[in-house]
Amino acid sequence: MHSSDILFQPIKIGDVELPNRIVMASMSRARTENPGLVPIALQAEYYRQRASAGLIMSEGIWPSEEAIGAMHVPGLFNEAQAEGWKRVTDAVHAAGGRIFAQLGHCGAASHPDLHGGRLPLAPSAVGLEQPVFTPGGFQTSPVPQAMTLDDIERTIADYAQATRLARQAGFDGVELHGIVGYLIPEFLNETFNRRTDRYGGSIENRARFVLEVLDAMIEAWSAGRVGLKLSPGVGLGKLQPTAQTLPTYEYLVKQVSKLGLAYLQLYHPAADLRGTPVEALAGGTAAYFRPLYDGVIMANGGLTQASARAMLEAGHADLVSFGAPYIANPDLVERFRHDLPLAQADQDTYYQGGARGYTDYAPAQR
Ligand SMILES: Cc1cc2nc3c(=O)[nH]c(=O)nc-3n(C[C@H](O)[C@H](O)[C@H](O)COP(=O)(O)O)c2cc1C
Repeated sequence: MHSSDILFQPIKIGDVELPNRIVMASMSRARTENPGLVPIALQAEYYRQRASAGLIMSEGIWPSEEAIGAMHVPGLFNEAQAEGWKRVTDAVHAAGGRIFAQLGHCGAASHPDLHGGRLPLAPSAVGLEQPVFTPGGFQTSPVPQAMTLDDIERTIADYAQATRLARQAGFDGVELHGIVGYLIPEFLNETFNRRTDRYGGSIENRARFVLEVLDAMIEAWSAGRVGLKLSPGVGLGKLQPTAQTLPTYEYLVKQVSKLGLAYLQLYHPAADLRGTPVEALAGGTAAYFRPLYDGVIMANGGLTQASARAMLEAGHADLVSFGAPYIANPDLVERFRHDLPLAQADQDTYYQGGARGYTDYAPAQR
């Protein structure tokens, strides 16, 4: 590599300095097998191994009990969980890294068996029909219960509280999970959000929830410590892009641009977009939204070292994030730096297996 390689140039995002542009994207790995959903030592080791990333995004973390939509995924809504995360952030910092907590609420993508028999909460009573990992195995998500205004207010407060706990736990920042078919995209999508109050109907109303959540997270810490991840072109179950998707996200991105966040992360779909309502994203989601956003953009989705570098050089993004490549390549930065081959991950161990397929991928031999 050349010292001028843009992938290895430092960058400041919000209040945080990164030594390179290579980010580890959030990945649920379902290793938190305890009833309190407190992160365990194995997770600290997993993140420590990946500390050479410019920035690590944690797996999606529940900001409340109501947010839960899968088993063995950790939380950040009480002191015990914050203490567990402190062990993770300490390990990453001791190894010279930086880590943000990703806060995610599953909305309709959940099941009563994860909520003591209660229906999951979502903007409206419209079912995603998505498989959910429950104690009884995979089950289809039911029609959820429509949130009341009190539910919405409490949920926004939960994100703020989780942000305070993230700060207390030593994270360097927080990312709002706004991708695929979970709570935030459900509010944005007019087929899932059938509300007639100020959170539904017009584009402005559908975008209100995510903007209020961001405001609450900023208030709880600071804008320079908050990021947002969106995936306008990616669906989940019955929630798929519509003709209103692009105008909705264009409005949202312009509003978010005023907030001075640490960054906006945009997940580009793997699918061929030709003939879909979001065909205009085919040239790249980051490139499409770049002119609408005044701030740091992080591109994500199917990137390779070469395509990531090209994207940075073209100015479509300032940072690039890698999900799946980080599973089997804890030293992804070094492999890129020295043009070393990438290891392939075992998909059977993505969401189970304890240490196997999790902390047992070795750094490359040089
Ligand atoms: C095993 C696995 C778990 C994931 N879990 C999350 C998650 O918790 N939160 C999230 O925002 N994205 C999650 N993703 C998506 C990745 O962050 C990323 O957006 C996606 O994999 C595309 O990037 P890639 O092509 O580099 O893998 C997950 C991906 C994988 C492979």
